[in-house]
Amino acid sequence: MRHLPPSIPDPNVLVGLDAPDDAGIYRLTDDVALVQTVDFFTPIVDDPYAFGQIAAANALSDVYAMGGRPLCALNIVGFPVKKLPPQVLGDILRGGADKVREAGAVIIGGHSIDDQEPKYGLAVTGIVHPDKILTKGAARPGDVLVLTKPIGVGVVTTAIKRGLASEDEIREVTDVMRRLNNVPDVLHAAGVRCATDITGFGLLGHAAEVARESRVALRIFAGKVPVLPAAYKYAEQDVFPGGSRANRRHVEACTAFSDAVPEPQRMLLCDAVTSGGLLIACPPDNLDQLLAGLRAAGTIAQAVIGYVEAGPAGHITVEP
Ligand code: CO
Ligand code: CO
Repeated sequence: MRHLPPSIPDPNVLVGLDAPDDAGIYRLTDDVALVQTVDFFTPIVDDPYAFGQIAAANALSDVYAMGGRPLCALNIVGFPVKKLPPQVLGDILRGGADKVREAGAVIIGGHSIDDQEPKYGLAVTGIVHPDKILTKGAARPGDVLVLTKPIGVGVVTTAIKRGLASEDEIREVTDVMRRLNNVPDVLHAAGVRCATDITGFGLLGHAAEVARESRVALRIFAGKVPVLPAAYKYAEQDVFPGGSRANRRHVEACTAFSDAVPEPQRMLLCDAVTSGGLLIACPPDNLDQLLAGLRAAGTIAQAVIGYVEAGPAGHITVEP
């Protein structure tokens, strides 16, 4: 995206390429702004229906991470029509459609092409009140960091691709990835201004974006971060995907790991995630309300993993 030419300034662009966030936001009226995002990828699990669910949950997540409510979506499909039976595509689309329906939104169109490898995702349009946008740049010193899903998705899905994972492990990571992050109302009620969703850059990569954009430092307690049980085993075996290793290299410059944080755990904190949870910076006075709200909404985790502190901007300290 950084190769794009600078766009013409438009006062209605509330979130755009100047301060890239989980989605772009365009003001329609004083009360309503459009939230727009697109995301698609190649299969991450073998079950086509589950892949459709995961791809949709992941695409919808960027709307939630901006504090928005998804309204409608367009399918984006690449499919090897001569290599795979049409039933597979049908199952992918059914998974996506069911997940969009669960989100209270509707699929109103899409586009497909013949492709070497299956790809699926959605362009999602949502709405948000212009005063209730959750950005990466709004964390304040004293805010408490909360995470709503376990990490370790990259290392476990890589174990699946290598034929190492058990049925139970596959089901567990699939359930994590297809879960909707549909809790913007809980975040608004708790006065949250800053949230992002954890995806390809891993927990520390996305946390670093928050630290940089908010011009604050973060302190994260590795032992408080929820991790998929199977991920520890595969982390010990170093089954990490290439993306996770790249993440580790990228965050090294801005992260200070305590000596007491062992190597597999450092890599887990950098592990690339598909359709991960929300990382929320919550004003400390509202923390109990946020946690109760998340619990009532049934998020997989409501983990307090650290807090925000004043400078140095963009820096992360990781303690055991
Ligand atoms: Co995002
Ligand atoms: Co995205």
